Amino acid sequence: MRIDIFTLFPEAFEWFESQRHVGNALRAGHRLAYVNYREHTPLSGGQVDDTPFGGGAGMVLRVDVVEAALRGHYGADPVQLRRERRVLALTPGGRVLDDEFVDELAQEPALTLLCGRYEGFDERILEHFASDRVSIGRYVLAGGELPAMVLCDAILRKQPGALGHADSAAEESFSRALEGAPEYPHYTRPAEYRGWPVPEVLLSGHHANIREWRLEQSRRRA
Ligand code: ADE
Repeated sequence: MRIDIFTLFPEAFEWFESQRHVGNALRAGHRLAYVNYREHTPLSGGQVDDTPFGGGAGMVLRVDVVEAALRGHYGADPVQLRRERRVLALTPGGRVLDDEFVDELAQEPALTLLCGRYEGFDERILEHFASDRVSIGRYVLAGGELPAMVLCDAILRKQPGALGHADSAAEESFSRALEGAPEYPHYTRPAEYRGWPVPEVLLSGHHANIREWRLEQSRRRA
């Protein structure tokens, strides 16, 4: 999986890349690359945004700047580009990310993520350059960088070898293995704490019973 992230703040991703599961994914051959809109802007003084037509608060990311960044990086017309690869614009009004959507995106060989800032994107970016609009929830953040990290985290942990244990991603919350339900509860040592015991079945060593108990717990949380 190769993910190109278009942003005004590539340095925001340094912490993200320093996490172990992300490092594992990168060592396994997955790639994250960053493109700073500002380095491609055709406007003077590094300008990337402008005031909204019709008035209103905030600034809007310009369509010509985003086109220049996409063209500069891929050497192609962004209108064509979105036919060849998924170009995801991160925006609060987009399709809300869930496990099914993450699975769908995790199958792609390459993704392009467009992070907005300020009041968001000029609508023509969404209409003509993006193949998808992705939201991480119905609330507004200051920019698309945190949503892009959320998306990359969710996608990369689905890649084989990113997590320590091969089964870790297969049987987690909302997965098919758990029929789309939240994950069952986990316990670790001590087996009893302040009079709060760990369910007996988990200490039994009886794998079939444990499996059945977990599925039942998971279903109850659905
Ligand atoms: N940009 C700002 N808020 C966002 C959200 N909730 N989801 C995706 N992108 C965003």
